[in-house]
Amino acid sequence: MKSVAPASEVDQVVKPVKLAQQDEAALLELLQSLEARHGFVPRDISDEISRVVAVKLERLQRIQGKLDSTIRRDVQRHVADWRNEEGNLIMILHAIQNQHGYVPREVAMELSRELGVKLARIYEVITFYHYFKLQPPGVHELKVCNGTACYLKGAAEVLGECRNQLGVAEGQTTADRQFHLDTVRCIGCCGMAPALVLDGKVHGHVRAAEIAGFIAGAKVPKGAAA
Ligand code: FES
Repeated sequence: MKSVAPASEVDQVVKPVKLAQQDEAALLELLQSLEARHGFVPRDISDEISRVVAVKLERLQRIQGKLDSTIRRDVQRHVADWRNEEGNLIMILHAIQNQHGYVPREVAMELSRELGVKLARIYEVITFYHYFKLQPPGVHELKVCNGTACYLKGAAEVLGECRNQLGVAEGQTTADRQFHLDTVRCIGCCGMAPALVLDGKVHGHVRAAEIAGFIAGAKVPKGAAA
């Protein structure tokens, strides 16, 4: 049988802790340590934690409510802009992607409700066109030209090295959201083939061995280079 700690000892554990200022992990840890140490969580402390959780929950729900209404208002605006136009779903999706940099799932769901179009149909369109993104774009955008001239000059090898270095395929963003890798069709610099565009800057006559350097260079904050 677990021994019950005197109240003064429990106080010593909890007193210095300002419960309302703790994050969820700290509250959980506190509960676990009280249980492990005393075999129970005193009623006054559990009541206080319940109150803190209720306050945090209410704040989060208010934030969620604001996000929901912002999303609804934005979607209604895009729909109103294109309501009577042919092919308006694609134009609305363009507007959404221009706004967010991609098409967030919650926005696609709101669009589905607003238009009365099945979500599956919206995703059919999004995934059919390579242009639309379902994930937030990376901080850096690396586009490898895969046009004919670049292809003949080794674009496949360059692209393969980009995949190796970043650990993602074209159309994907690295887990840390730092790099988005993609391919493009001819950027008009065929004389410099194979070419790539990193953060808007064209690099020509690229060799696979240079890719690691390009990536490392892009990570260096502007103005930090020696
Ligand atoms: S094919 Fe790559 S720049 Fe033209």
